[in-house]
Formats: sequence, structure tokens, C-alpha cells
Amino acid sequence: MKITVIGSGYVGLVAGTCFSELGNDVICLDIDVEKIEALKKGVVPIYEPGLDELIVRNQKEGRLQFTTDKSKAIQFADIIFIAVGTPMGENYEADLRYVRAVAADIGTHMQSYKVVVDKSTVPVGTAEMVKVIIKENQPAYIEVDVVSNPEFLKEGAAIKDFMVPDRVVVGTDSDRAREIMQKLYQPLVRVDHPMVFTDIKSAELIKYAANAMLATRISFMNELSHLAEAVGADIKKVALGMGLDKRIGSRFLQAGVGYGGSCFPKDVQALIHSLKEAGCQARILNAVESVNQDQKLSLMPKVKRLVGNLAGKKIAVWGLAFKPKTDDIRDAPALQMIGEMQKRGAVIAGFDPVAESNCRKAGVDIEYVRKPLDALVDADCLVLMTEWDVFRGLDKEEMKRLMKSPSIVDGRNVYDQDEMCSLGFDYVSVGR
Ligand SMILES: NC(=O)c1ccc[n+]([C@@H]2O[C@H](COP(=O)([O-])OP(=O)(O)OC[C@H]3O[C@@H](n4cnc5c(N)ncnc54)[C@H](O)[C@@H]3O)[C@@H](O)[C@H]2O)c1
Repeated sequence: MKITVIGSGYVGLVAGTCFSELGNDVICLDIDVEKIEALKKGVVPIYEPGLDELIVRNQKEGRLQFTTDKSKAIQFADIIFIAVGTPMGENYEADLRYVRAVAADIGTHMQSYKVVVDKSTVPVGTAEMVKVIIKENQPAYIEVDVVSNPEFLKEGAAIKDFMVPDRVVVGTDSDRAREIMQKLYQPLVRVDHPMVFTDIKSAELIKYAANAMLATRISFMNELSHLAEAVGADIKKVALGMGLDKRIGSRFLQAGVGYGGSCFPKDVQALIHSLKEAGCQARILNAVESVNQDQKLSLMPKVKRLVGNLAGKKIAVWGLAFKPKTDDIRDAPALQMIGEMQKRGAVIAGFDPVAESNCRKAGVDIEYVRKPLDALVDADCLVLMTEWDVFRGLDKEEMKRLMKSPSIVDGRNVYDQDEMCSLGFDYVSVGR
């Protein structure tokens, strides 16, 4: 099938590449000229494990192209995916300006029937809006179907999530579009990885509901972690005991430094906004959000307890991205912590396996080091913000030897508490 994906970011690039891997002819369109020029040369602008090879191979085999030419890309396809950003707006709503711009482009340039697919995370009613904008911009009437097909991939495991999805959700009111979507996704669908067809509005809501539920689990555990600390329980053991209950499951029960990234914070806020707009209350989600705001800075008192006055102190920060296996630093808790520590006069040496370049572009002004241990030299404290695997197996004796004072605030409960204490670290973690 002929597919155009508009927006070549974390979602669009992965979706376009995976569709080409499945044998489709794909054009990825973006307005970012630099990004498209790099992609044409096989230089991938984001870090996503396995993506580079897939892009290069499918490009070489002629199934995957990159362009900034809107009319070429839009006329080429039978199916057009909208995968542009939907960031948080001024009033915490989903800012749909990029989606609207793309809808106008599609209307202007389409010359035959298209299935237009909202893959971006968008509030209920967006597909309807997209259809209206497309029609308003068509020079003459051409039939179009707009369907909702939210994306559930996780950065860091995006290829696998796309190729082996738990489910594929498609919201449509058109039999023609349904048939086309079914054909497109047929290679990915299995008995236990089904395709779920719904009405359009339900599909749009499913994505927000799923993200809000995951965020709720995180805030729930973070709130309980305070009780665990107060009464001397261990939140990791609590999570283990809870998660083995099949009704609950073990995922997203890790207490830590709060959720960040490009999705949960804005999606929870957008859902709160939608609830309010519809005249409903958002009591649970307001609490989820407020617990998360506090949790992001919950390591500050712990750092102060170990280090005292931060002025002039050297703090090593391990992990800058919002989670491991990605270079995405949008709303990363590490950056907020760094800002707070710098405000108090701390000097920060930071390490992240892949996020340094994005941090530099975002103006995060710290000393960047190439190896985790380099950050520890003469450090007064290590603050671990993202649980990259590389931090797990490092030589603890060496870590201690390098630091001025062997203090660790482990925001992700990576290390064994008893081991760290017996090695002589002043070790503080979350909910233990
Ligand atoms: N990142 C994730 O893990 C993830 C997962 C599931 C869903 N989503 C959702 O998918 C959507 C995209 O997220 P992302 O992280 O890929 O965003 P992103 O910011 O990485 O990429 C968006 C891309 O769209 C391009 N763009 C903007 N306006 C355009 C236009 N008019 N024409 C062509 N290109 C245009 C930008 O230049 C950019 O390259 C969002 O709605 C997000 O909530 C993201």
C-alpha cells in the first residue's frame, strides 16, 4: 500500500519505517528541512534502538523516502497518517495547531480519495475537526475518511511495540476505511494482539485513558512511598507483593522521581481539560498530577540532608533523559532537579548515554562527562535520576573511592540498600 506519514518525530519516523519494513511504499514528510536532509543521508535525528538499521535498509530497497514536498507526499498516498506533535497549550489543553495545519495541507493537495489517520494523541472530536478542515481546503469535492488510530509505542522499545502491538485501536465510521485499515495492519494482528474497532470518539479517548491510567499507577505508588518511608516499609517489596496479584500486574508500580517525558504530563493535563470542558470533575487526575509535581522534587530534601548547604557543592547526576533507552528530555525530572540544585549554588556534573546533545541544544548548562564514573570525581553526592542499565554493574568500591563524600540519592531504587550501606555509602532511595 502507499502510505504517507506527516511528522517525522519519535512516532512518525517509527511508524513510517515499520510500515515500509512490512513491504509498503512509504513517504515520511516533515517541515523540518534539516531533519529531512539528514534522514535522506541515513542520519537518524533521534535515538531509538534498532531504528537506524531499519531506515537505512528500507531506504536502500526503495520503500522508504523522506521529503518536505507536501503536494508530492499527499498525492502519493492511499493512506495519510498525521503524526505531528500535540504539545500542552497555554491552558493545559492539547495544542492542535500542527494537526490543523496538516489537515489544511491535505485538503489543499489531495486529488483522490484518502484515508486520513489521526495517529497523534488528540482529544475527542479532533477527527471530526480534521475532516471539516480538509473539506474547507479542498478546491473541489473529493471523498475523504478520517479515522482515529492512536499510537501506544514506548520510546526505547518503539520498534517492538509497533511491530508486536498489544492491540491496534481503530475508530472509524466508514466501512471503506475500515477495510483499508484492516488490510494495512493485518500482518501485525494476532489472536492475542487483536485489532479493536470502535467508533471514532471512543478510539480518541482510549489513548488518553490508557496514559492517564499508567500515570495514576505511578502517582499511586509514589504517594505510598512516603508512607513506606515514614513507617519503615520497603516500597519495592510492596510493589512486588501487589504486582503478583494477576488483577493488578507488576508494570508501572515502581516508585521513583515522578513521571515525565513528552506524553504523560501533557496527556494527563489534556484529559483534565477535556473533563472540565465537558462539565465533569477530574478529582483523581488532579491528584495524580499534583502528586507528580511534588514527586519530581522529592529528592531535594534528601540531597540536602546528605550534603547540607548546596552552595559550591559538586553533585553528580546520572541520567538526564526522562527514562532509559531514549534521548528524549521533554519534561524530564532530571532537568527540573538540576535547575533546583543550581539555584542553590550546586555545581553539576551530568552523564547520560545518549541525551547529552539534546540537553546542550536545550541550554542545560552543566559539566557533561563521557563516562558515569567521571562525574563522581570529587563529588559531594550522586543523584541517580534515570535507571540506565549501565549504572547497575559499576564497581561500587571505585565509585566510593572517586567521590569526595560517598553519598548517593537513588531516585530509581536501582541499588540494593543493604549492600550500599554495608559498603559504607550514605545511601538514600525512594520509599525504603
Ligand atoms: N513520543 C512518544 O513516545 C509517543 C507515543 C505515542 C503517541 N505519541 C503522540 O504522537 C504525536 C507525535 O509525537 P512525537 O513524540 O513523535 O513528536 P515529535 O515532536 O518528535 O515529532 C513531531 C514532528 O512533526 C513535525 N511537524 C510539525 N508540524 C508539521 C507539519 N505541518 N507538517 C509536517 N511535519 C510537521 C515536526 O517537525 C516534528 O518532526 C503526539 O501527539 C504524541 O503525543 C507520542
